[in-house]
Amino acid sequence: MIQLGQLTLKTPVFQSPMADCTNIAFRRIARKLGLELAFTEMISAEALARQNKQTLPLLRRTRGDKPLGAQLVGHNPVSMGKAAAMIESLGFDVLDLNLGCPVRKVTSLGAGSALLQQPDLADKIFRSVMENVKKIPVTVKMRSGFTDPSGNEAVRIARIAEEHGLSAVTIHGRTRAQGYAGKADWNAIRLVKRSVTIPVFGNGDIFIPEDAKRMMELSGCDGIAVGRGALGNPWLYAGIRSVLAGHKPTEPSFEEKKKVLLEHIRLEAQYEGVKKGVLHSRKIAAWYFKGCPHVAPFRDRINHAATLKEITSWIEDFNREGTARPSRYMWRRTQSEERSAEEQ
Ligand SMILES: Cc1cc2nc3c(=O)[nH]c(=O)nc-3n(C[C@H](O)[C@H](O)[C@H](O)COP(=O)(O)O)c2cc1C
Repeated sequence: MIQLGQLTLKTPVFQSPMADCTNIAFRRIARKLGLELAFTEMISAEALARQNKQTLPLLRRTRGDKPLGAQLVGHNPVSMGKAAAMIESLGFDVLDLNLGCPVRKVTSLGAGSALLQQPDLADKIFRSVMENVKKIPVTVKMRSGFTDPSGNEAVRIARIAEEHGLSAVTIHGRTRAQGYAGKADWNAIRLVKRSVTIPVFGNGDIFIPEDAKRMMELSGCDGIAVGRGALGNPWLYAGIRSVLAGHKPTEPSFEEKKKVLLEHIRLEAQYEGVKKGVLHSRKIAAWYFKGCPHVAPFRDRINHAATLKEITSWIEDFNREGTARPSRYMWRRTQSEERSAEEQ
């Protein structure tokens, strides 16, 4: 059990926020398969404070979407405080502050991972947020450093977070300079764990359940935030829990994967609209069958598919031997192509 302020979590395995990925559809699927604490993707505090029309939809959620954290990114203590109060009043269960985003558009403003090098500004932001949030736990997610790989920058920020009464820190064991390259350094997580008394969550390169066990053993972290490993593998959260409990994780069958993918795509269209649904479905389908034999032609077909019906049909027809059977859609298209060829 993990205590974050008044929130008690039964499991130490969370979903890491991911822009353009961890939306309602993703979270509904993940929760069905056993995820407990989920997060929205990062939200700009400036935009939220201004009630920007494009930002509010990122905070949408459904009734069972609980416990759910929202993540804010920003550099201005006043708007971070204002946006934090809004997140609390909207009924979120956790507020997470982003000190990890490596994107230039964000860091050039002094936000995201750039705050790792500005402890005084981070201090002001934490103070302003804590003054504006009354009940929900506030956490911070950061990289191990901006360019310094030692983990000392993360330690410095984690100590400031602790002083201000934040409830936990999550450490992604990579510097901003590393982007997503190389291997995450779990020793940086251990360094932070040894430096503060609030819970420390480890993040970076958890792709199979056993990775989580190794990370916990090596770093002593209290919980795990799982990012990319769960894209197309929402069974990972439950798998990690099994391994941590000393059991063997169960693998989904190929047919189960197809079933869940089809449901994911259906939800994507339901919540994001058909146009976005088609675009997103291309990447979602590729996640689920990453590494499968014959996946390249399947991906190609999906990428050229124009409708959800077509995508669904290609998925239904995909099998371990490749799309050997002509898809129903393909059959229709072939007939119409033949007709138009005859007419010419
Ligand atoms: C597509 C994508 C979007 C991401 N968006 C966010 C975000 O909005 N907020 C955040 O804190 N981290 C974000 N991250 C970083 C992940 O949450 C995580 O820290 C990182 O991928 C390392 O963990 P992993 O190896 O388990 O993926 C994103 C990562 C990816 C790949």
